[in-house]
Amino acid sequence: MNCAGRLVELFGSQAELARRLSVDRAVVSNWIKVGYVPARWAMEIEQLTGGEITAAEILNEATVRKPLKLKSRPDGESLFGSPLPGNESMNNYAPAKRIHSFHPPQRTLMGPGPTEIHPRVLTTMSQPAIGYLDPIFVDMMEELKTLLRYVYQTKNALTFPISGPGSVGMEFCFVNMVAPGDKVLVCRNGVFGARMIENVERCGGHPIVIDETWGDPVDPQKLEDALKSNRDVRVVAFVHAETSTGCQSDAKLLTEIAHRYGALVIVDAVTSLGGTPVLVDEWGIDAIYSASQKCLSCTPGLSPVSFSERVVDYVKARKDKIKSWFMDMNLLLGYWGASQRTYHHTAPTNALFALHEALLLLREEGLENCWARHHRHHLALKAGLESLGLRYLVKDEYQLPQMNAVFCAQGADEAEVRRRLLNEFGLEIGAGLGPLAGKIWRFGMMGYSCRADNVMLCLAALGSVLSDLGVAVHVGDAEAAAHAAYASQHARAAQAKKKGQARAA
Ligand SMILES: Cc1ncc(COP(=O)(O)O)c(C=O)c1O
Repeated sequence: MNCAGRLVELFGSQAELARRLSVDRAVVSNWIKVGYVPARWAMEIEQLTGGEITAAEILNEATVRKPLKLKSRPDGESLFGSPLPGNESMNNYAPAKRIHSFHPPQRTLMGPGPTEIHPRVLTTMSQPAIGYLDPIFVDMMEELKTLLRYVYQTKNALTFPISGPGSVGMEFCFVNMVAPGDKVLVCRNGVFGARMIENVERCGGHPIVIDETWGDPVDPQKLEDALKSNRDVRVVAFVHAETSTGCQSDAKLLTEIAHRYGALVIVDAVTSLGGTPVLVDEWGIDAIYSASQKCLSCTPGLSPVSFSERVVDYVKARKDKIKSWFMDMNLLLGYWGASQRTYHHTAPTNALFALHEALLLLREEGLENCWARHHRHHLALKAGLESLGLRYLVKDEYQLPQMNAVFCAQGADEAEVRRRLLNEFGLEIGAGLGPLAGKIWRFGMMGYSCRADNVMLCLAALGSVLSDLGVAVHVGDAEAAAHAAYASQHARAAQAKKKGQARAA
């Protein structure tokens, strides 16, 4: 039954529903006739039904029934009366082709990020702008910080989203924590470790690099050996979840080792936050950054960061001037700190509304449930990919659920496979980077993209494309393997529940 029908059922009659919404009965009767409730009623209906019919359901149904179509106006036609004379000379600088409003196609995003964005996040983002010092906005910022502390599992006071993508979060950590001449030990097992080295150099530090084969985790023994022979290392930096390979390193152990030698740690949690456990306080992490567009299901462009008290004191005590004005922690605290707020830069207000909603969704789901969801769908995807004969790059124990890197099928043109998935199925997956370019495919299952329908679409589409391109696969095997993986997980969960109930009785 569609949402309009459900609403009438819920309130007993069209007349009662119209009364509760303070609209004419003809409005409700039209919803029944067309078979959906227009998108603009989404939030109100969710409120009216106490969440029984969610805004997302209304939006999804309305978008399918009546896709949004905006028509741009003819060039030169002014909304505000007749055009001024002399406007023609400006046209010398006008685009050569006629430009229309942009409407992105509907895609299924299973690449390395960005991921699909939850409809509730998109709705929230399109609310009217308010000022970045508006008291209502300031209250929202405080909530945002508490939600981030939950997601990071920390009590760190300095926990907030930097305006900028994950790369800005990375620079924020390095520029504040690395002074000229500092020795920084960087563990590199993929693309993003290499970027950390760049950051150290640009801050005037001396990087000492521990290299690992791409696809392997950072080796704790190598870190310990390097620290033994470099007792003056100030900072150790590593990527928790390497997006370029789908490999997870042991952040807790690496942090423990760094602390034994008196070094602070910087952890990149861009791909791990929200997808696998990141326990900042329990693991003793000093500085950490992430990004909004991965397992947090938000739009790209914000980078949640968190500094321990020890790091805040360390940065405050620095005698030299931080090399970036925009990222100087001391100045940013004037806007994001707990006391009186002052202008630092114009905060991206609507993007911050969106992050607030995305984090709220995570809070509602519960962190552990969210990690479990990533694991559950990873097992199903993995069963399907392996049934197509695809081999994982990373050993089982280090595999990230949210980033699945497999060697490309032999005999298939890897770029052609990705092109056909995109053009024929609207499905985006990732290619290999650096030494893995042309060798692997990367299947991301992060945040809102991590769902059973995406797993099934991906396996069906991949089976179909590979078979079409002459790879010896049996169409349908992958979906069957994924179904079996889901079924065995359901059976195990049911058994565990039964045992739990028996113990409690
Ligand atoms: C592990 C890791 N670190 C850093 C970044 C940089 O983040 P952004 O692209 O948001 O700047 C990425 C981006 O994919 C990443 O995967």
